[in-house]
Amino acid sequence: MTFSRRGFLAALAVAPIAAGCGLGRPDGAAAGPRALPIPPLAEAAVGADGVRRFQLTLAPGRAEILPGKHTPTWGLNGPYLGPTLRARRGETVAFQVRNGLPEPTTLHWHGMRVPARMDGGPHQTIAPGQVWEPSWTIDQQAATLWYHPHPHGGTEKHVYRGLAGFFLIDDDAADALDLPKDYGVDDIPLVIQDRRFTADGELDESDPSDIGLLGDTIVTNGIAGAYFRATTSRIRLRLLNGSSGRIYHLGFADDREFQLIGTDGGLLPRPVPLTRIQLSPGERAEIVVPVQAADRVLLRALPVPDRGDIDAADAHAFGFDDRFDILELRGAASTKSTAALPDKLIPWTAIPAAAATATRDFELRWYQINRRQMDMNRIDFTVAAHSTEVWTVRNVDDWPHNFHVHDVQFQITEIDGAAPPPALAGWKDTVYTRPGSHYTLVMRFSGHTDPTFPYMYHCHLLLHEDHGMMGQFLVLGPGQSPAPMAMPHGGHG
Ligand code: C2O
Ligand code: CU
Ligand code: CU
Repeated sequence: MTFSRRGFLAALAVAPIAAGCGLGRPDGAAAGPRALPIPPLAEAAVGADGVRRFQLTLAPGRAEILPGKHTPTWGLNGPYLGPTLRARRGETVAFQVRNGLPEPTTLHWHGMRVPARMDGGPHQTIAPGQVWEPSWTIDQQAATLWYHPHPHGGTEKHVYRGLAGFFLIDDDAADALDLPKDYGVDDIPLVIQDRRFTADGELDESDPSDIGLLGDTIVTNGIAGAYFRATTSRIRLRLLNGSSGRIYHLGFADDREFQLIGTDGGLLPRPVPLTRIQLSPGERAEIVVPVQAADRVLLRALPVPDRGDIDAADAHAFGFDDRFDILELRGAASTKSTAALPDKLIPWTAIPAAAATATRDFELRWYQINRRQMDMNRIDFTVAAHSTEVWTVRNVDDWPHNFHVHDVQFQITEIDGAAPPPALAGWKDTVYTRPGSHYTLVMRFSGHTDPTFPYMYHCHLLLHEDHGMMGQFLVLGPGQSPAPMAMPHGGHG
């Protein structure tokens, strides 16, 4: 089997760059920016048993992503995207996930420490009309996680059509900090996605590049061309790259400094001042941005500066040269001043790499990890419950990739032999892998054991994942041996 690595290049004379023109709108049409929608907080019923119960229905709909156009979409409890789920550490959550779509799907809790059969990976298929009822106890620190479908070979299209949402975890340690935390007022979830539309306003799923469907229109929280009106002197943005394959190098048009306070798995030990932050698909960052009265400033995506072993034509085709306006921040006529950020956030404990009972190497190239493509019927390795492991991930390709591991938050100990920069020194579940570089990760596995259902590790460029750039591992307790289920049509190729 061969995929053409460059065949698409000719076809990819697209990507008119929306530099400076009306906020990611492809046609510069008359309508002005619209207020950023804030995903509603999901309603939950907490029973006498203390269990927090949520209902999610996945169904087709129509959404006004572009002003005046009613685009056919898929969404959760609404036409596009889903509500923000929120639960506290220690709480038990339970879901009824109803599949109202015309095809099978799954729902995965990205970044969550969760029993494998509740993980919502490709083994937890929900047939059309069926309801899936996962439940688990939240056992990790406050963090900005997210959820999205993960069907075998079909994740990119399900997410592209609109299936994704935030899952925020709260805990006492984060609550005790004087951080912006008024949801939708100074604590803003912001999912960034790129999309392409046909002339009649349908989502265009044609001609993916080798890193997936690249859009020419930026959609934030479900609309193109959004602004956010800030009423406080500091706002917290919980950024999520919810795109298929695009890498965003973000910064403000006036180069203002912001503070990075959290990464994928939670808050940092202290705020890190930055002017740029880069996110590959699936990654999150929490930043706190100063806003003045009557301010107007654009959050922008700028060309990706640090390219590694990628040639100029590929970098261009993969969107590394593109510029987009992401979101306009407008300060209200007067902004309420809020407390300065604390110097210290959450204490940091390094996972002792010396405690590792296994080291593993992963080589990323083409649509493969260690020269293999995903097979639903192959367990790639097993891991001991509660163990610490050190994984080295090498991108030996001239393509960009990233690397995501289910069930854990890891710490990056080295990048090409050096300590990671502060922006990559916190808890992570997804890391960008620059072509030619290698990343050493240390992680501790949970006590959730299951001889039947595996967890996934994969490239989170969704087309790569769908093309088989994924593997699976079981977490086993003492004396357990693998007993996976046979899946029909499990492989790729
Ligand atoms: Cu966000 Cu395995 O996925
Ligand atoms: Cu995940
Ligand atoms: Cu990849």
